[in-house]
Amino acid sequence: MNTATSTKSDRTDTRSESMANVHLTANGIHKTFGEADAETSALRGIDIDIDRGDFVAIMGPSGSGKSTLLYCLSGMDPVTDGTVTLHDGDADSVEVTALRQRDLAELRLTRMGFVFQQVHLLRNLTILDNVVLPGFTASPDEREAVVARARELLELVGIGELADREITQASGGQLQRAAIARALINSPDLVFGDEPTGALNASMAAEIMDLLVQVNREGRTVVLVTHDVNVAARANRVVVLRDGEIDGDLRRDDSQTDDQWAESLAGWLTSHGT
Ligand SMILES: Nc1ncnc2c1ncn2[C@@H]1O[C@H](COP(=O)(O)OP(=O)(O)OP(=O)(O)O)[C@@H](O)[C@H]1O
Ligand SMILES: [Mg+2]
Repeated sequence: MNTATSTKSDRTDTRSESMANVHLTANGIHKTFGEADAETSALRGIDIDIDRGDFVAIMGPSGSGKSTLLYCLSGMDPVTDGTVTLHDGDADSVEVTALRQRDLAELRLTRMGFVFQQVHLLRNLTILDNVVLPGFTASPDEREAVVARARELLELVGIGELADREITQASGGQLQRAAIARALINSPDLVFGDEPTGALNASMAAEIMDLLVQVNREGRTVVLVTHDVNVAARANRVVVLRDGEIDGDLRRDDSQTDDQWAESLAGWLTSHGT
């Protein structure tokens, strides 16, 4: 197997290399829920650098902390300890974990897109209105442009003709496409997904992954949680969690074909009992 798997000490070495291409950094993240007897340590010291334009899948057993890590990386959930920093190329970096609620909300809205297992679209609005909504932070005279962009995005994700339909009149796969369009309305440079294909059958899941690969090829950094090795194999890097710690960090080798990468990933997961 020629998949690069780093140990904790390798990761430390990697971190001292150039930060030029790093998009998001987590340093010593701990996340604890509850208190005293009911305390759960969901994340126990996560260090990770995610490169700009990378496509990262987070895997691991149920309860290993995947969703918690995603929410901490995206600022949706506060960390108990540690820092998350968003790097902006030449501009100043932003410490996500130090932002006030209001600044954090703006950062999430303008720089990040989210896709979840359940689509969370508003049922009393049309598909188009749902996509447009997060784009309406722009000034009123830009609203027409936002609506035009929403229509374009719906075309892009293959459901342009459903724009004016009610949410209740679309299939799960179509709604997930709408959710991806909504996630892209503000042209985020980071897209997060928590099991975005978890509620879909295999062929719909593959179609949604085709879209997310396309989103990544446009230069957006994609980080998604999945249980599905076929979904994870579409990523370039797979981070495996176990009990709130990083158990494996596998990167696709440029020389690997899709099948070789998927096979080496499946082999690693099997040999680690994941
Ligand atoms: N809001 C919460 N309150 C208390 N404990 C929580 C909360 N959210 C998560 N946990 C606990 O933290 C740990 C990690 O949960 P998390 O949801 O991140 O796991 P996961 O890897 O995403 O699991 P799954 O694959 O089942 O979605 C679990 O033990 C879970 O019970
Ligand atoms: Mg989860």
